[in-house]
Amino acid sequence: MNGAPYRKELDTPCLVVDLDRLEQNIAEMAEYARSRGLALRPHFKTHKTIEIAQLQRQYGAIGFTCAKLGEVEALVEAGVLDDILVAYQVVGEQKIARLLRLLERARITVAVDSVAVAEPLSRAVAALGKRLDVVIEVDTGLRRAGVQPGEPVLRLAHELVQMPGLRLRGLMTHEGHAGRAPTTEEMEQLARAAGEALVSSAALLRRHGVSVDIVSVGSTPAAFATTRVEGLTEMRPGTYVFYDAAAFRFGRIGPERVALRVLTTVISRPSPDRAVIDAGSKTLTSDPPPPGRTGYGYVVDYPMATIARLSEEHGVVELPPGVDGPVVGERLEIIPNHVCPVVNLQDELFAIRNGEVVATWRVAARGRVR
Ligand SMILES: Cc1ncc(COP(=O)(O)O)c(C=O)c1O
Repeated sequence: MNGAPYRKELDTPCLVVDLDRLEQNIAEMAEYARSRGLALRPHFKTHKTIEIAQLQRQYGAIGFTCAKLGEVEALVEAGVLDDILVAYQVVGEQKIARLLRLLERARITVAVDSVAVAEPLSRAVAALGKRLDVVIEVDTGLRRAGVQPGEPVLRLAHELVQMPGLRLRGLMTHEGHAGRAPTTEEMEQLARAAGEALVSSAALLRRHGVSVDIVSVGSTPAAFATTRVEGLTEMRPGTYVFYDAAAFRFGRIGPERVALRVLTTVISRPSPDRAVIDAGSKTLTSDPPPPGRTGYGYVVDYPMATIARLSEEHGVVELPPGVDGPVVGERLEIIPNHVCPVVNLQDELFAIRNGEVVATWRVAARGRVR
């Protein structure tokens, strides 16, 4: 769509979202979740945009996953929905006060991975005569937050069921480590192992009389592998709405499926092997390329080019010899390495259909990292 009107009309750098691709991505995951009998609870942090959340709901998402309370507040302010999983530890009195306010307006479940996190929540909700749903975050290999599968999950569950005000609903994990595996086979193996660790932890809890109705996994690259494990109830992919260059690794997704691109302008051609674009780290972010790729994004119009260096407002594109590269003023579309932080840096998304801008969407939770 080199000659598409939006490529000339929009000022750059900006983010353009192809609505046909967006809807295809959302519909495909929704259909897959349905076919596996799983609830779909997409992560809001990828797009932070109410219009896209509404689209996901139309396609059957049961609610959303958020990391930060600021994201929850954006959803609640927009009146989009009433069922949100905060897949993140809510720690500190300011956060707990905000959570209590949100509980008045929405159905919220929060992740906990220790007594130290759970106890202040229990005290705060019990003091108000309220109830808070919690899930235990389990570390199935990412080595971020979370308790280890098996006995440690059971020990924490026994503590949680004693705590006033808390209702233990189940278990969650983010199997993000699978997406970083070097091969598709290893990714699938790690994903399955993560799913199995979660399901067997749930079974252990049930054997000890603890009821578990949520068994939730979430990752885009591993989505179709983890969820082959029987016994899960829910999946929480985020990046799938747009996809990004990291998604190319396992072969299922190519550039033609990526719904969001960074539209940029060539501002300098200092030498035959170099073009400079108006998107630097303040647009593309410094997220490194995924294994097997080079550069700070995929140049759709010149796939042989490499975005070799970034400063804040400049992207240095290296061109191989013999390439009749872009001229000053030419527009280029870039697929970012990791789309989520890129969206968080922009005020709006331009929605495109048939080469025209058909809507401008505010990134409602942009910058809401508290
Ligand atoms: C807790 C949690 N759940 C789900 C996801 C969604 O994963 P992805 O970005 O691969 O779609 C993430 C991503 O970081 C996450 O942290």
